[in-house]
Amino acid sequence: MKCTICIGSSCHLKGSRQIVEQLQYLVKENHLEDKVELGGTFCMGNCVNGVNVTLDDKLYSLSPETTKDFFDKEILAKVQ
Ligand code: FES
Repeated sequence: MKCTICIGSSCHLKGSRQIVEQLQYLVKENHLEDKVELGGTFCMGNCVNGVNVTLDDKLYSLSPETTKDFFDKEILAKVQ
């Protein structure tokens, strides 16, 4: 599964960096390195809803506070 986080300037201001760091940590902690591919992308043209994250082409709107939840529900629950 491929998870792409927007690191454009607007999303960056809303905490995309923390989100990337959290996801990297969670992926590692759960030993999902070979199942989940994390990546970054520049502005997705949807700044108002940022931080924008896509998971296999499905768009999600995250904040650092909702990242753990997103990981548990959308990633962890689906790869196991
Ligand atoms: S900066 Fe993320 S959608 Fe524009």
